[in-house]
Amino acid sequence: MASSEEPTAAAGVADYLRQQENKSILRFLTCGSVDDGKSTLIGRLLYDTRLIFEDQLAALERDSAKHGTNGSEIDFALLVDGLEAEREQGITIDVAYRFFATDKRKFIVADAPGHEEYTRNMATGASTAELAIVLLDARQGIRPQTKRHSFIASLLGIRHIILAVNKMDLVDFDQEVFRRIAGEYAEFARDLGFVTIQPIPLSARHGDNVTTKSARTTWYEGPTLLDELETVSVDWETLEKPFRLPVQYVSRPSADFRGLAGQIASGSIAAGDRVRVAKSGQITRIKQIVTADGVLERAREGQAVTVVLEDDVDVARGNMLVSADSPAHVADQFQAHLIWFDTKALIPGRNYILRTECDSVTATVTALKHSIDINNFARKAVRSLERNELGVCNVSVQAPIVFDAYKDNRNTGNFILIDRMSNATVGAGFIDFPLYRAQNIQWQALDVSKQSRSALMNQRPAVLWLTGLSGSGKSTIANNLEKLLHAHGRHTILLDGDNVRHGLNRDLGFTDADRVENIRRIAEVAKLMTEAGLIVIVSFISPFRSERQFARELLGKDEFIEVFVDTPIEECIRRDPKGLYKRAMTGAIRNFTGIGSPYEPPENPELHLRTVGTDPAELAVLIQHYLERKG
Ligand code: ADX
Repeated sequence: MASSEEPTAAAGVADYLRQQENKSILRFLTCGSVDDGKSTLIGRLLYDTRLIFEDQLAALERDSAKHGTNGSEIDFALLVDGLEAEREQGITIDVAYRFFATDKRKFIVADAPGHEEYTRNMATGASTAELAIVLLDARQGIRPQTKRHSFIASLLGIRHIILAVNKMDLVDFDQEVFRRIAGEYAEFARDLGFVTIQPIPLSARHGDNVTTKSARTTWYEGPTLLDELETVSVDWETLEKPFRLPVQYVSRPSADFRGLAGQIASGSIAAGDRVRVAKSGQITRIKQIVTADGVLERAREGQAVTVVLEDDVDVARGNMLVSADSPAHVADQFQAHLIWFDTKALIPGRNYILRTECDSVTATVTALKHSIDINNFARKAVRSLERNELGVCNVSVQAPIVFDAYKDNRNTGNFILIDRMSNATVGAGFIDFPLYRAQNIQWQALDVSKQSRSALMNQRPAVLWLTGLSGSGKSTIANNLEKLLHAHGRHTILLDGDNVRHGLNRDLGFTDADRVENIRRIAEVAKLMTEAGLIVIVSFISPFRSERQFARELLGKDEFIEVFVDTPIEECIRRDPKGLYKRAMTGAIRNFTGIGSPYEPPENPELHLRTVGTDPAELAVLIQHYLERKG
C-alpha cells in the first residue's frame, strides 16, 4: 500500500517523516516528450500510488513551520538534499522535481520539460539521478531523440534505464512490436555503459503495467514500472564516496573559534578523522563538527556543517577538505566533456567563468579536440561548439581548482561555464581527468622590475587601446598620437592590426574564434611591453567586449585606457580607404566587421572620440591631454 495519509498537524508530519526515514531514495529522470505520453505517465504513476504531491509537501512544510517542530524540518531537508545544492549552484533552472513515496522507497523525479531546451534541462537537472525512464511511443519506435536522451543519460553517469514502450494499446498490445523495439534499443545502447536496461510494455493512459500487471500483455513476464522503480538495485551508485567538503566560507564569530562551513558533497566525517586541505596538501584532524542542531559526532553527504580543525591551517573559500587517504585532484588544466547551451557558439580562447561546487575562476577552452554527434556517436573535427552540441576539450583555469573525475564523483566532477558579459549559464562540463602539463613552469623572479624600467624612462607605462570599425580612423589617430608623444620624449610602441597580422598573427583570419585569439595575443604582447616600461598604442578593431575586458583585467589598475574611435558605419563606408567595404557589400569578403560580423561598441570607454567633422590630429592632442592629466 502506498502512503496516502494527508497529515495536516505537526504531529502527523513528524510521524510521516519518521516513517519515511529508513527507506532508500531513488532519484530518477524522465526523458521523452509530451507526445510520447510523458506527463500522462508521471500523472498516472503519481495517481496510482496516491503519492504526496509536491504542493502537498509545500503545505506540509508550511504546517511544520507554523507548528514549529524542529525535527520535522531537518527530515524534510533530507528529502530534498542534493536538489538544494544544485539550486545554489544556479544550474537547475527549468527542472521540476516531484516527490513521492511507497512502502518500499522514496522517490525524487526530475522532470525536464520542453523541446528546445531539453538537452540543457536534462544536463543540469539529472546530475544526481540514478535511473532514467526513457519513454517512447510504440507506434514510432526508437527515434533520434530517444538516442540523444539515452546518450546524455549515459554521459551524466546514469547506469539504470527503464525503456518505457508506451501506447501499447494503439498497437493492439502486439508482442512483436515490443520485442523489436526492445531488441533495437539493446543493440543501440550496448556501449553506453548501462548496468540494467528494463524494457516495459505499457499504456500510461489506461494504466497497463504502470503499477499493476496488465491482463492484456499476458506474454510479458517482467516487472511493472512501479515494481522496477521499487526494486532496482542502485547500491553501487550510492556506495559511500570519499569525504569531500567544499569550503563555502570561513566562520569566525569570536577570536577563539574558527570554523569552515559548507555542505558535505560526498562521504562522511567524524570528530578525530584525518583530513587534507586539498590545495596545500596539509594534513590535520577534525576537532569538532557543528551544525544547526548542535555538535555532532558524525556528519554525512548532504549535511550543512561547520568544522573546526585541530591545527590552524590556511583555508579559504574555494578550497576543499578531503579525506586524507583519498585526496582529490588539484590542477589548473583538465580534459572535460562539455555540453554547450548558448545560441552564441563556444569560442576556444575566450574567457568564461567556470564555477564548481565551491570555486569560481576565469577559464578558457584551450583546445577543442572534437565534437560528438549524439545521434551516432561519430567524432567530428570542429573549431567551435554550437548550441546543444557536445564536445571533448581541454580547459585551462587561471588558478588551480579542486575536483574529482566525474566518473568517480558526480558532485565534485562537474562545472558550469558562465558568460562574463551576459552572466548566462552557457555550458555544463563533466571532468574526465586532470592535465599536469604546466606543472614544471613556475614564475621566475626578476630583479629589474617594471617600476625600475619605467623610472629610467621617466614615464608611467600605459596601454591606449583604440577600438572602432575598419576605416573609423584608428590608425591615423594612433599615428598622430605616437608622433606627439615621441616629440615629447616619451617611449612608445604602436601595435596596428594590419601590421601585426602580417607577422605574429599571420595564421589568423577573421572568424570570431580567430579574432578572439588575435586580441588575446595582442593583450598579452601589450602587457609585456608595459613591463618594458613603454606607452603602448594598440589600434585594432577588437570588436568583442569580452576580449577588451580580458585585456583590461590583464593589465594593472589605471593602465588600460579604452579609446572608442566612434565613426558611424555610413561614414566608414563613404570613406572606405582600402575599398574593403565595397567588396564586403558585394559579398566578396565575408565576415567583414559591421557588414557580416558584429561590432560591440564599448559601454564605458575612458575616452569617446567622435570623428565626424574633427581633425585626427586634434583627436590625438585630446588623448595626449588625457594622459598628461592622469600623470
Ligand atoms: S580584429 O577584428 O581582429 O580586431 P584587426 O584590427 O586585427 O581586426 O584587423 C582589421 C583589418 O583587417 C581591417 O582594418 C581591414 O584592413 C582588414 N580586414 C580584412 N578582412 C577583414 C574582415 N573580414 N573584417 C574586418 N577587417 C578585415
